[in-house]
Amino acid sequence: MFAAYELSAGDPVAAFGAADVILEGEYRVGHQEQLYIENNAMIAVPRPDGGVTVHGSLQCPYYIHRALKRALLLDDRGAQVVQAETGGGFGGKEEYPSMIALHAALLARACGKPVRMIYDRHEDISATTKRHPAAVRYRTGVSRAGELLAQDIEVVMDGGAYCTLSPVVLSRGTLHAGGPYHCPAVRIRSRAVATNTPPNGAFRGFGAPQTEFAAEMQVNRVAEALGISPLELRRMWVYREGDTTPTGQVLRESVAGQEVLERATEAAEYEFVRERTARARAERSGSGLVPGTALSSGPARSAHGIGLALAWHGAGFTGSGEVHLASVASVELTGDGRIVVLTASTEMGQGTKTIFPQLAAQELGVPVEAVEIAPQDTAVVPDSGPTVASRTAMVVGGLVIRACRRLRAEVEGRTGTPFASSYAADAAANGPTRIDEQFEPYPGVEFDDTTYTGDAYPAFGWAAAVAEVDVDLDTGEVAVSSVVAADDLGRAIHPVLAEGQVEGGTLQAVGYATIEEIKLDDGRYLNDRLATYLIPTALDAPRITSILVEAPFSGSPHGAKGIGELPMDVGAPAVVAAIHDAVGVWIHELPATSERVLAAMAGPSARKGAA
Ligand code: MTE
Ligand code: MOS
Repeated sequence: MFAAYELSAGDPVAAFGAADVILEGEYRVGHQEQLYIENNAMIAVPRPDGGVTVHGSLQCPYYIHRALKRALLLDDRGAQVVQAETGGGFGGKEEYPSMIALHAALLARACGKPVRMIYDRHEDISATTKRHPAAVRYRTGVSRAGELLAQDIEVVMDGGAYCTLSPVVLSRGTLHAGGPYHCPAVRIRSRAVATNTPPNGAFRGFGAPQTEFAAEMQVNRVAEALGISPLELRRMWVYREGDTTPTGQVLRESVAGQEVLERATEAAEYEFVRERTARARAERSGSGLVPGTALSSGPARSAHGIGLALAWHGAGFTGSGEVHLASVASVELTGDGRIVVLTASTEMGQGTKTIFPQLAAQELGVPVEAVEIAPQDTAVVPDSGPTVASRTAMVVGGLVIRACRRLRAEVEGRTGTPFASSYAADAAANGPTRIDEQFEPYPGVEFDDTTYTGDAYPAFGWAAAVAEVDVDLDTGEVAVSSVVAADDLGRAIHPVLAEGQVEGGTLQAVGYATIEEIKLDDGRYLNDRLATYLIPTALDAPRITSILVEAPFSGSPHGAKGIGELPMDVGAPAVVAAIHDAVGVWIHELPATSERVLAAMAGPSARKGAA
C-alpha cells in the first residue's frame, strides 16, 4: 500500500440509522493516457565545470533540478534545467521527465557529449504514468424528502508497481469524494495500492475526476430512487456559503456551486429536454422496441438523452502544500529599461506566457507588449513552484501582481511621476530594480496534515456540465452531441484562453467517459500506440458551450482561482447520466464503451445467457 487516508465528520452510524432510504453503489474508472501532442524528450549537455544542463519537454523545471542535484550530487548551479517549447503535459510531464533527464544526464556525463533522448509514441505510452484506475464504494443515507443525511465512501486507487505521486493524487481524490454537497455525517476511507502494472501518476484533475465520477453517479441514482429531478436534488444538497466540509473547513466565500448549476441547466434547457427524452423513452417501451435486442426495426434506432453533473475543485496545492512550497516570483526593471517577469511557471498551451504579461501590464499601467517573460531556466528564474494543480493563475499570478505593485511603488517613489512615463528614465538613471515576491499564507487558511482537518484548499472552483448523447440502440455506441459547461474560475484573466481550457478539459472528459481505455495483459499495456489507444477526434467532439462564472477569491489580488482542471471533473458523470436518460441503464464502469452499454441494455439475464 502506498497511502491511506481516513476522514470523518458527525456520527455516520447514527445518521444511517435515521435514514429512510440507504442507497449503495460501486463505481469503477479505468486508466487514462494524457496523450499530449508531443512525446517526452530531453537533451542533456555535459559542461566543462562538471555540471550538466538539461533541455526538455516538461512542466516543472525545479522538480527536475532537485532530482538532478540529488542523484548526481550537484549543487544549485551544477544542475541546470531549461524548459523547451512543450507540446502539452496534462500532468504527464510532472514527474516522469525527471527520470528521462537523469538517464540522459548519466549518459551525457559518461560519454562527455550531449545526449538526446526522445520517446516515440509507443515508448511514451508503454512507460509513462497514466491516470489512476479506481474503485469507489458509496453508501448514501437520505430522508424520504430527499435530505442528505449520511455518506460512507471507500476509495481504492491502483498505484501500479511503484510509488509515484499516488499519495497526493489519492489525497485530492479523498478530499473531493463527497462531492460539492453539504452532509452532516460523512466517513471517507481511501487507499492507494501497489499492483503489477506500470505506475500511475498525475493527470488533469489529480484524483478528483475519479472520485467525483462516483459521487455524481450516486447523486443521480438517489434522485432516481426518490423520484426527484437530479437538478432539484442538487439544488437541495449543494454547498452554500457558511457550510462546513468533511475536514471541518467552513466555506466562507467564493462558493458558486448553485450559480454554475443554474447557469448550465438554464442554458441547456435541461428540464425541458429531460421531459422530451422521458416521453420518447415511454413511447419506445410502449412500441415494444427494446434496446439491445437483435436489430430493431422501424425508424428509431438511436435514443437521445441528457445528463447533469456538478463538481468542486480545490484551487492550488492541497493542505499546507503552498506554505511548504514557499514559491517566489520576480519582476525586474532592467538597466536598459525592459520589464521582465521571472517565474518557473511553464507554458504548455494553457496560457502562462499570455496571462503573466497581461497581469503585469495592468498593474504597471504599460502596454502588454512592454512586458517580457524570462525563459524557464533554473539559472535565470526563481523557484515559483511546479506548473500543476491549476495554480499558475491564482498563486503565481498573485505573486506577479504583488511584485509589480512593489516595483511600481518603488519607481514612482523615486520619480514622483506615473510608472509608465518614468520607468525608462528611472532605469537609465538608477540601474536595474528587481523585486522578489514570496508566497505568504492566505489569511485564516490552516490545514493540519496529521489530523487531516482544516482548510483543505484556500478556495474551490465550481463546475456544472449538461451533456446530451445519442445512443445507438443496435450497437450501444455513444455519440456525445453537446456539452454545456459552466465553470467558476474566480476571475477570467483571458476569457478566450479560459474557454479553451473548458473546451479541452471537456473533450478529455468525453474521451474518458466513452472510448479511452487501456487494455492490459500480464501487467503490460496492449494498446500502446495511437492506432489502438483511441481519443476523440474533431469528428467525435460535441458542440461545447462554455459559460465562465466569476466568484472571486479575496485571497488572490485579482480574484482568480484557476480553471485548468475543473472542467475535467464533470464531463464523464454528465455523459453517463445522459446515457441513462437515453436508454434507462446505469453504466457503473468507465469508459462506457459500446460493449458495456450494449451489455447493460441487454440486461443481466441476457448477459448470463450469452455467458
Ligand atoms: N492545457 C493545455 N493546453 N495543456 C496542458 O498540458 N495541463 C492541464 C491544464 N490545462 C494542460 C492544460 C493541467 S493537468 C494543469 S494542472 C493545468 O493546466 C496547469 O496549468 P495552470 O496552472 O496554468 O492552470
Ligand atoms: Mo496537473 S494533473 O496538476 O499537472
